[in-house]
Amino acid sequence: MQGKFITFEGGDGSGKSTQIKLLEEYLKVKGKDVITTKEPGGTPLGQELRRILLTGDVDKMDAKSEAMLFFADRRIHLTKKIWPALEKGQWVISDRFADSTKAYQYYGHNGRVSLPDLHNLYEISVGNFKPDLTIILDIDPEIGIKRSLNRAASAAVKEVRFENVDISFHKRLRQGYLEIAASEPERCVVIDANQSIESLHQEIIKEINKRLGI
Ligand code: TMP
Repeated sequence: MQGKFITFEGGDGSGKSTQIKLLEEYLKVKGKDVITTKEPGGTPLGQELRRILLTGDVDKMDAKSEAMLFFADRRIHLTKKIWPALEKGQWVISDRFADSTKAYQYYGHNGRVSLPDLHNLYEISVGNFKPDLTIILDIDPEIGIKRSLNRAASAAVKEVRFENVDISFHKRLRQGYLEIAASEPERCVVIDANQSIESLHQEIIKEINKRLGI
């Protein structure tokens, strides 16, 4: 595959979507053919899974069911959109990928889905494919959740199933992201998201240039 696959990760309200837009513009100026996408819901079928996964009560399904549905969405996303784009030489930026499942369903849900189970789901759905670079935007969950709930207040569909879980869930998943990054430093970079939009964008560009050599 000739294109590059960049994923953005982080807690709710960490500013991923704003930064993805800015990075997309930057890469286009540099002459790259870029598409942006997201999980869950990067495909029409995935949009249906997104509604199921992100609306309603957190207890409507357990962590294992959640993990399986997120991986089903991911495999549809890969086969229908991500892999074909990479094969055409496009750069793909995704708002979340498999690290989200580890952070939310394993760390957040306190190990209620095991690491070996997640590993098996990854192999079945993704194989040995992985992102070229993962940017983890680190934010204090007290700040992030407030931002995310404010945004949801004006949205037609309230996708706040995870925002409504208690703050300790969000603290655990933040710690989880830091552990993921520490275990795969060649793929992951953690950036402090508690800074201005422009300075965060500049830090991201610096990492992209350093690691992907633009
Ligand atoms: P977002 O599109 O606003 O980031 O919302 C997606 C939500 O779904 C967010 O709360 C994180 C959660 N999520 C998981 O719990 N597991 C996953 O694998 C993915 C992709 C997202």
